[in-house]
Amino acid sequence: MAGMNVRLAFAIISASWSAFQHGYNTGVMNAPQDVMSNWLQKEALSGTNLTLAAKDDPVVTNVWSLTVAIYCVGGMIGGVITGVVADRFGRKGGLLLNNVLVFLAAALEGLSKTAKSSEMLILGRLIIGINNGLNAGLTPMYLAEISPVSLRGSIGTVYQLVITITILLSQGLGLSSVLGTTNGWPWLLAVTVLPAVIQCFTLPLCPESPKYLLLNRGAELKAQRALNWLRGDVAVHGEMEEMHQEAEKNKISKKVTLRELFGNRQLRQPLLIAMVVMVAQQLSGINAVIFFSTDIFNNAGLDTTQSQFATLGMGAMNVIMTVISLLLVERAGRKTLLLVGFGGMMVCTIGLCIAIQYTAISWVPYLCIALVILFVTMFAVGPGSIPWFLVTELFNQAARPAASSVAVTINWTANFVVAQSFLPLSLVLGTYVFLIFAGLQFIFILFIAFKIPETKNKTIEEITAMFRQQL
Ligand code: GLC
Repeated sequence: MAGMNVRLAFAIISASWSAFQHGYNTGVMNAPQDVMSNWLQKEALSGTNLTLAAKDDPVVTNVWSLTVAIYCVGGMIGGVITGVVADRFGRKGGLLLNNVLVFLAAALEGLSKTAKSSEMLILGRLIIGINNGLNAGLTPMYLAEISPVSLRGSIGTVYQLVITITILLSQGLGLSSVLGTTNGWPWLLAVTVLPAVIQCFTLPLCPESPKYLLLNRGAELKAQRALNWLRGDVAVHGEMEEMHQEAEKNKISKKVTLRELFGNRQLRQPLLIAMVVMVAQQLSGINAVIFFSTDIFNNAGLDTTQSQFATLGMGAMNVIMTVISLLLVERAGRKTLLLVGFGGMMVCTIGLCIAIQYTAISWVPYLCIALVILFVTMFAVGPGSIPWFLVTELFNQAARPAASSVAVTINWTANFVVAQSFLPLSLVLGTYVFLIFAGLQFIFILFIAFKIPETKNKTIEEITAMFRQQL
């Protein structure tokens, strides 16, 4: 790939250990639910109703739901403070500092069993959630700001690629034959410390974002050195010149606060797009499948082991398609991939609603399983990866941190809403619950088709100018 070199690749990999936290902790609570519920009932919450199976004990269920949900609340908090952290400590600086939260969370979660404390487990999940909210803002920002224009989409996709790989890893390690056991689960949760240790050794070797150095800190020489390092080249005049032009504009409109973000007419359109793509990513229903796939496959007629393996197959397709999307995004463009992805998801969703009525026919359960896997595959075409970096492309340096804050917070809030409402809603609506997702997907397709401009191969200056001209 033109523009790629060993150092840039090293910086991308070093920053992407943060995406490990996001994917791993999204998937990790899925497989060991039974063993952890038993522990909660017998040790951490002893005194609760031992005549019931742990799964049916209301106290255990409440504590379990809280453990899962508080992670998203942490994500929202992390999203809210992303802008301040990115401006104050820098992108690389913020990412490095964020590892403190991982050490704390891993210790709390990993030692909760020894301490017989459900509070430690819950607090650990909250802290790792905050860490993940920050990662979801800071990493795409760092990746976008160190990328050459022609690779910005592909490099931005790396964030989602690592998420998909680590969701798969957590599902694999969580199997009852690996770490999803009575003694294994504290280790399963503590594994999250490893990427933080690796990042603490590798990221300090990489430079801070050159754009941050020049545009936020006014450190001309440092910015040039950072760019030399990242491009493996001394001839970086063109890019320095572009940054200078942006710096000139930034003098006029200094750092954008949240209030200005919502009040400024020029930013209204990109802000609306950023918010809608984030809501669309979550309300597409992806995590209803990522979190509850084993259950869904069970209902379609597979036994538990088969369902766990079908879940792994689904995770693998998620990874494979994200790789393909990384290769396609600079050619096909963001808009096309979003439309194909959401369109495909809608077809699968409607297909699933119909097929599930006929599961008495012998081959139909297999069709349902294929449709669920295809649904995730279509998500990976574009809706999975593009929202993360599209937000960084729509705003200039002055508005990017505040806009990322808003977008990331909205993403985690929508994630929380789906995670909390899917099971209660499916109790009421049965499989028709998927029709809600199909309806929403249709609205998002219309929005993307009519409101989102193509940003591939354009500089940030060109993109923001497009919105100014529309006024
Ligand atoms: C995106 C979503 C995340 C989801 C994942 C699945 O990163 O933000 O919530 O679990 O994709 O691949």
